[in-house]
Amino acid sequence: MSKIHAAITAVNGYVPDYILTNQELETMVETNDEWITTRTGIKERRILKGEGQATSDMAVPAVEGLLRKRGISAEEIDLIIFCTSTPDMPFPATANILADKIGAINAWGYDLQAACSGFIYGLTTGAQFIESGKHQKVLVVGGDKMSSIINYEDRATCIIFGDGCGAVLLEPNTEGLGVLDAILKSDGSGKEYLNIKAGGSLMPATHETVDQKLHYAFQEGKTVFKFAVTNMANVAAEIMERNQLTAADVNWLVPHQANKRIIDATAERMGLGPEKVMINIQKYGNTTSGTIPLCLWEWENQLKKGDVLILAAFGGGFTWGSVYLKWAY
Ligand SMILES: CC(C)(COP(=O)(O)OP(=O)(O)OC[C@H]1O[C@@H](n2cnc3c(N)ncnc32)[C@H](O)[C@@H]1OP(=O)(O)O)[C@@H](O)C(=O)NCCC(=O)NCCS
Repeated sequence: MSKIHAAITAVNGYVPDYILTNQELETMVETNDEWITTRTGIKERRILKGEGQATSDMAVPAVEGLLRKRGISAEEIDLIIFCTSTPDMPFPATANILADKIGAINAWGYDLQAACSGFIYGLTTGAQFIESGKHQKVLVVGGDKMSSIINYEDRATCIIFGDGCGAVLLEPNTEGLGVLDAILKSDGSGKEYLNIKAGGSLMPATHETVDQKLHYAFQEGKTVFKFAVTNMANVAAEIMERNQLTAADVNWLVPHQANKRIIDATAERMGLGPEKVMINIQKYGNTTSGTIPLCLWEWENQLKKGDVLILAAFGGGFTWGSVYLKWAY
């Protein structure tokens, strides 16, 4: 029997309706549209508004739409991997909350936290449950309500992040399509430059931590940029070399959307022209675990069976990596 690969057989996404524009940010912090656009490529991002709205509430419409597209019921899902840095609660896992909300009564699940590399870590992990033959239908969800951990008085972070969620279904494929290779990396010394200082076991929540705004995301942008631009480009080039892929073989780069300059540097390193690069950062900003599945969702109609995709991401941790896959439908 030919080898089992994990193929993406459906994709869907959800972004909230509210649009936070650069112009509105100009009224909130000392910034301007021109600075944000030239430094990041971002024009607007989506924000999940309303009391009681959490990350799982974006996953529900994303996944329900995915199931409808694929024509299957939630009861058929074996496993849910929910990649997020903004779980509904510290515990239980958002994967469990989602399973309950959509009626995935036969699934087990867990959350995976790898900051902006969450989705490629989750995709690689989920693929292994398919390759082993243990599971037939694995849902990999990438979603974040970044607005819940952003200080809208901090211009270093509030201009970058947005809310959104995407999801893919993985199923076995014996035609040589699906996830073919992955290179995943991490360097915990990067924790100094991109983190949330309080709310974990190191510094539990107190009045002081709240007063000092230590529950918000902190980023030393310049340092993170330096690591991101080098490592994301290197790992994308490495996976091409390891699989003897030339730029002509690659149909699409699906990059994490952190900064347009980082995406451009990665594409250049791979030798790809802009027509092969999925970019929607101008509309959604950085949705952390959501960026890559949201790109796949948006470009789904242009993808063809057998297309070669290189996914690449870099995020807090530091975490980074690249996935090589062939589109299966
Ligand atoms: C955050 C980021 C956009 C900042 O861009 P940058 O070119 O590094 O800008 P700097 O932080 O060096 O700031 C340059 C100047 O703009 C100012 N500035 C910072 N934020 C600003 C804002 N929102 N609006 C206007 N000016 C701003 C700074 O104060 C600084 O001014 P100075 O030169 O007078 O000191 C960029 O560093 C970045 O994208 N970093 C990586 C993000 C990333 O990949 N994260 C990983 C995954 S989440």
